[in-house]
Amino acid sequence: MNKMLFGIILAILIASSECSRILFMQPSFSKSHVMPLQALAKELANRGHNITFVGQFPFSKLVQNYRDIKVELSAEYKELADEVGKGMAGSMNLFKMFPILKKLNYGHGNETLQSAPIRQMMKKEKFDLVIVGYFVTEYLLGFADHFKCPSIMFSSGSHISALNKAVGNPLSPEGSQSPLSQTKDYGIVSRVQNFIIYGFELLITRIYFYYQSKAVYDYNFPPDRYRSYDEMIRNVSLVLVNTHFTSSGPRPLLPNLVEVGGLQVKPNPAPLPEDLKTFLDDAKDGAILFSFGSNAKSIYIPEDKQKIILKVFSKLKQRVIMKWESDVLPGKPKNVLISKWLPQDDILAHPNIKAFISHCGYGGVIEAKSNGVPIIGIPLGADQKGNADKIVEEGWAVRLDMTDITEESLTNALKEILSNPKYRDIVGKQAILAKDRPMNAQDTAVYWVEYVLRHNGAPHLHYPGADLNFFQANSIDVILFIFAVIYAAFKVIKLICGFIFCRSKKGSNEKLKRN
Ligand SMILES: *[C@@H]1O[C@H](CO)[C@@H](O)[C@H](O)[C@H]1NC(C)=O
Ligand SMILES: *[C@@H]1O[C@H](CO)[C@@H](O)[C@H](O)[C@H]1NC(C)=O
Ligand SMILES: *[C@@H]1O[C@H](CO)[C@@H](O)[C@H](O)[C@H]1NC(C)=O
Repeated sequence: MNKMLFGIILAILIASSECSRILFMQPSFSKSHVMPLQALAKELANRGHNITFVGQFPFSKLVQNYRDIKVELSAEYKELADEVGKGMAGSMNLFKMFPILKKLNYGHGNETLQSAPIRQMMKKEKFDLVIVGYFVTEYLLGFADHFKCPSIMFSSGSHISALNKAVGNPLSPEGSQSPLSQTKDYGIVSRVQNFIIYGFELLITRIYFYYQSKAVYDYNFPPDRYRSYDEMIRNVSLVLVNTHFTSSGPRPLLPNLVEVGGLQVKPNPAPLPEDLKTFLDDAKDGAILFSFGSNAKSIYIPEDKQKIILKVFSKLKQRVIMKWESDVLPGKPKNVLISKWLPQDDILAHPNIKAFISHCGYGGVIEAKSNGVPIIGIPLGADQKGNADKIVEEGWAVRLDMTDITEESLTNALKEILSNPKYRDIVGKQAILAKDRPMNAQDTAVYWVEYVLRHNGAPHLHYPGADLNFFQANSIDVILFIFAVIYAAFKVIKLICGFIFCRSKKGSNEKLKRN
C-alpha cells in the first residue's frame, strides 16, 4: 500500500515537474509570421504544458492546455495594417513601407504592453519560460525579467542579423546568403552586392530598429525596477529560426541557434473543409492554388492585372483555388473557387494540386517545397524577390513580375509549369531532402524548448563571444596590444644596445690610448 502511494506521489511529482507554464508573446499583425510559432505552442500544449499565447490571431477552436489572449488593434493600427496589405500587393517601395511598419510594430506593441489584460497578467500570474516571436521586437524580453524566467527567441523568417547578435553567432556575409539576395554566384560583383545588403540590414536592425525597440522597453520596463535592455538581449537562452539548410543554405551555427524550418508544415495534413475537399477531389485535370499570403491582399492587385489573371484562368482545364479577401469577385470563372482564408499547407498536400501561384513569402515557399508543388512566383517585396530567384535557380519555379503580367506571359508560365515534368521532378527530390532529418521540425523545437526548461535556462550554452564588442570579437585590441608590446620591446632593445655599444666603444678607445 505504502509503495503504491509512493508511486502515485512520484508520478504526480514527475508530471508536475514536466508540465511548465509557458508564455508566448507575438503581438504581430502579420498572420504568416505568427503561424509557425502557434504550431509550436499547440504542440507543447499537446504534450501537457500550460500555454498562454498573446497575439492577434486566436485559434478558432479550443485547444486543451492552451489560452489565447488577444489585444485588439486600435482603429489607427487596423488602418495601417490594411495599408500594408494594399502596399504589398501594389509593390509599394520599401522606403514608403518602413515608417508604416515601424508604427505598427512599436506603436501597437507599446499599446499591447499597457493594455488591461497584459497588466493583469503581469500582476497575477507566474511563468517558467517566455518565448518571444521575433520581428525586431527585443522589447518583449522584458517579460523574462518580470517573471524571472529564461527566454527563447523565435524567428519565422530567415537569419536576421540582430538574432545572430543575441547569441553571438558569426555573421559571415562572405559565405552565406542574405534573405534579400540568395543566388549562388560568389564572383566579386555579387559579393560586393551581398556585402552592401548585409551592411544595410545591419544598419536597419542594429541601429534604427534597435533604438525604436529600446524606447518601448525602457518605457514599459523602467531601469529602476528592471534589468537593462542590452542585458536581457544577452540573457536569451536559445534562438529558434524557421529555416533549414536545405532551403536557406549551410552556414555556421552556434549550439543555441537551432534551425526548425518547416514548423508550420504538419507531418500529416489535417482534413480539408468539405467544400474544398470536394472541389479538389473532383478536379480530374488537376488544380492550381493562387495565394498572395496573409499580408498582401489579392483584392488590391491592380484591376487590369486582375482581369488578365481571371481571363487566363477561365481558359484552363484545371480548377483554381484563389485566396480572395471579399465575398464577391466580379467575372469569376466557373472553374475558380474563392475563399478569404485557406489552409494553405493542407491544400498543397492534396495530390491533385499541380502548381502554386505565389508571392513567394518564406512560409509559402517552404510549404510548397515540403509538399513537392512547383511555383509560379510573382514576388512583391521584402524578401520575396530573393526567395523567387533562389527557387528559380534550384529549378522548380518560374518567376513572373506583376508589371510583366500579360495574357501571353501568364499563359506561357502556366503551360511551362504544368506540362514540363522537370519542375515536379526537381521539387519532388527537394521535398525528400528537406524531410531527411534526425527529428522533424516540431520534435526538434519541442526538444530544445524542454531542454532549456530542464536545465534552468541552459546558461552553459551561452557563447562567451556574445559578450565581446566589435574590437574584442575581431581581436583588434589584441593585435594592437601585440604591436604595442613588440614596438616597446624593440625600443628597449635598441636603447640597451645603444648603451652597451657606447660602453664598449669607450672601453676600446681607452685600451687604444693605453697602448
Ligand atoms: C494554466 O496557467 C493559468 C495561468 O497561470 C492558470 O490560470 C491555469 O489554472 C493553468 N491551468 C492548468 C491546467 O494548470
Ligand atoms: C508608449 O506609450 C506611452 C503611453 O501611451 C507613451 O507615453 C510613450 O511615449 C510610448 N513609447 C513609445 C516608445 O512609443
Ligand atoms: C540570465 O541571467 C541570470 C541572472 O543573472 C543568470 O542566472 C542566467 O544564467 C542567465 N542566463 C543565460 C542563458 O545567460
